[in-house]
Amino acid sequence: MTGSPTKSTVAAWLDERLGWSAIKEFAQHKRIPLHRHTVWYYLGGMTLFCFLVQIGTGILLLLYYRPTAEAAFESVEFIMTDVRFGWLVRSIHSWSANLMLFFAFVHMFSVFFLRAYRKPRELTWVSGALLLFLSLGFGFSGYLLPWNQLAYFATKVGTDILGQIPLIGHWLLTVARGGDEVSGATLTRFFGVHVAVLPMIATFFLVVHLAMVQKQGMSVPIGPSYQNTRTMPFFPNFALRDLVGWTLALGILVLLASIFPWELGVKADPLASAPAGIRPEWFFCFMFQTLKYIPSHVLFMPGELLGIIGFSLGGVALILVPFLDRRAAREERNGLMTAIGCVVILYMAVFTLLAYVR
Ligand code: HEM
Repeated sequence: MTGSPTKSTVAAWLDERLGWSAIKEFAQHKRIPLHRHTVWYYLGGMTLFCFLVQIGTGILLLLYYRPTAEAAFESVEFIMTDVRFGWLVRSIHSWSANLMLFFAFVHMFSVFFLRAYRKPRELTWVSGALLLFLSLGFGFSGYLLPWNQLAYFATKVGTDILGQIPLIGHWLLTVARGGDEVSGATLTRFFGVHVAVLPMIATFFLVVHLAMVQKQGMSVPIGPSYQNTRTMPFFPNFALRDLVGWTLALGILVLLASIFPWELGVKADPLASAPAGIRPEWFFCFMFQTLKYIPSHVLFMPGELLGIIGFSLGGVALILVPFLDRRAAREERNGLMTAIGCVVILYMAVFTLLAYVR
């Protein structure tokens, strides 16, 4: 069946000016392989959904938030009590931030175990790893913005770690804090990073990530049983399924935000002593807990420095995964990588739990 004359005239007009048919073809060529692991293909989309929710709710919060030590806490209080549905918007923003990191981790581990990073998707993996680091940056910088007691001291502990780095440590700490202490200057910096610098860089890498996924299509796991599997067009068939998932996720988000509204706590008081049992947000807990277990000195090196070096090397190894697993590039299964993945998940889960119970 052909479209109506008006529709085809508009399409021809757009095609002449924008190369519309090429854009349409690019959007439509991707197909989704159907096999027993297809469910994992929804997770990147879920992470994307949370990211979009963050942008929408973040812009709404910006209408009332004020980034100064004197006014930040009160402005969030105002959002929670006086602005219509302000409490809901703030709660959704906080819940969705946590869900986004959760989905990003699960998405990363699923593409890891499916070996979706293998040739020719190495750069898709690298851009994804950078997106994960940026998401952690969003979490860290956003945590301080309500300027409450917990966030203040968690930021103090978090930025203290920077100071441990030899030679440039003190300089890094001063740049991050805008001085020697966590103060209003730190808040202004974190605000700028949270609402301008990170969104700009993350949007760039997100576009790169999604364009590569669209160009290369979805990978299939290694093994003869996955070759020649049936496929389904991404657009509109799989995209509609994604949409069902997103609608469900929105329902869950609103439910969580309504039943468990995000707390504000008490205003930060730099002169008060640190509250007992201070710990960062859950996605940093495995690192925080590890640092606690390292002795204050290992050989001639301060324990914290050893921890920082270990985590930095871990981050570099994460980025380099596609280049380290040479067997996957030859379409061979690599049991060692599966074992490493399982150990890392176990380590992260156990140390996160320990941070909550200890
Ligand atoms: C943090 C934000 C992220 C967003 C919004 C995102 C989004 C997406 C989307 C929508 C897809 C296509 C559907 C799917 O496979 O689920 C995808 C695929 C992919 N992502 Fe991500 N991603 C993110 C983080 C990551 C991370 C942390 C990694 C790994 C370090 C990663 C690696 C990949 C790879 C390798 C693919 C291709 C999968 C395949 O072809 O089977 N992504 N991503």
